[in-house]
Amino acid sequence: MDRIVVSGNGPLRGDVTVSGSKNATLALMAAALLGEGRTRLENVPRLRDVDTMLEILRALGAEADWDPDCQDSLWIDPEGVHSPEAPYELVRKMRASFLVLGPLLARFGRARVSEPGGCAIGVRPVDQHLKGFQALGAKVRLERGYVEASAVRLRGGSVAFDLSTVNGTQNVMMAACLAEGETVLENCAREPEVVELAHVLQRMGAEIHGVGSDRLSIQGVSGLRGVSHRVSGDRIEAGTMLIAGLATRGLVRVLGVDPAVMDSTLQKLRECGAEIEVGVDSVQAGIRGPLRPVRVATAPFPGFPTDMQAQLMALLCLAEGASVVSERVFENRFMHVPELKRLGADIALSDRTAHVTGVRGLSGAQVMATDLRASAGLIVAALAAEGDTTVNRVYHIDRGYERIEQKLRGLGAEIRREA
Ligand code: EPZ
Repeated sequence: MDRIVVSGNGPLRGDVTVSGSKNATLALMAAALLGEGRTRLENVPRLRDVDTMLEILRALGAEADWDPDCQDSLWIDPEGVHSPEAPYELVRKMRASFLVLGPLLARFGRARVSEPGGCAIGVRPVDQHLKGFQALGAKVRLERGYVEASAVRLRGGSVAFDLSTVNGTQNVMMAACLAEGETVLENCAREPEVVELAHVLQRMGAEIHGVGSDRLSIQGVSGLRGVSHRVSGDRIEAGTMLIAGLATRGLVRVLGVDPAVMDSTLQKLRECGAEIEVGVDSVQAGIRGPLRPVRVATAPFPGFPTDMQAQLMALLCLAEGASVVSERVFENRFMHVPELKRLGADIALSDRTAHVTGVRGLSGAQVMATDLRASAGLIVAALAAEGDTTVNRVYHIDRGYERIEQKLRGLGAEIRREA
């Protein structure tokens, strides 16, 4: 079991280029199933989750692989899809596999996808996805842990999501692109990964209106074509790197990300006392004065991202005062708290709110990663801590951060991986 050893050794400084967005990539790989012909994605991060999605696409019968001549590009050709079944052993490795259901249903008239179980951060039901497919005329049944959906041809319908769901919006939007007639989706998620998917679907020939708003109107078409697309920079990785710089009182500039998709994160960092400089596709953060405590509640876009909550909390452990962190998206996303406390943090939990009292410093210790973003929060804290910290079970972090040690080492961190 790999582990990462971090020696807190002062400020991180320099530039780091973020990889392509993991979450945009996974949705776009599923969308490739809709295209008649090959789809090519560039600026794709080399992550376990991306490899899992490649395995799933191949299991369905598609041809898909990394481009041997281009490290960060892959291609997907769905023409060979013969069995619209995504097996349990693959789906359980990565919930986002469920995103193949909408495209399979729309393109091939039926799909059998293992119901993604819960995960460390919550139960994570898929009822909104299924509600959407049924509104488009699909017959949906749950049978022995699998979702089976079928429709001779999907027909346009109206769906009002009961809550903001990123993958739910993406899944139903993809299905609606090939449904007969108009579909109206209300209360859609507006995350940048939903917008990017919608734009790529439009380039594949889909007719989608209202992109970026919480109401999408989709006119079904008879077919979509394959497309080439460069995946946008990962806003969560960018935020993570900026916070690592602030936690060590350094100066980090992230390159390859659109600052416009980071507004709520940057605003919160300014409240913490960070000095933020924004470029066309870069953001720099530094701090000269005190690190100030804040109140923050996670929310669907454009609110503060739940995927940044652990990393911000790690930073707030060092603030001069008491902060309040409320996790309003997932029901169990505080597993980094006991691990941060092992590093000397002063955090009290009550229900879905963490009360963080800043301390003068953290001290290195053995800690356990529990989920992707919790791992990132622990690494941020470890970089600021006195002495060595060993983060165990780092396979969690490899799911969402490409070459994280190399990137942090490039900023001056003393960090190494041990098998
Ligand atoms: C996406 O998950 C991201 N994953 C998550 O990133 C991210 O945390 C989340 O959106 C919120 O931004 C990918 O895109 C692959 P949701 P998703 O549906 O779509 C409830 C990471 O670290 N819900 O927006 O699965 C759900 O339980 C990962 O990169 C239902 O109740 O999240 C949650 O409480 C973690 N019924 C809330 O909605 C449903 O049918 C938001 O979940 C669907 C969701």
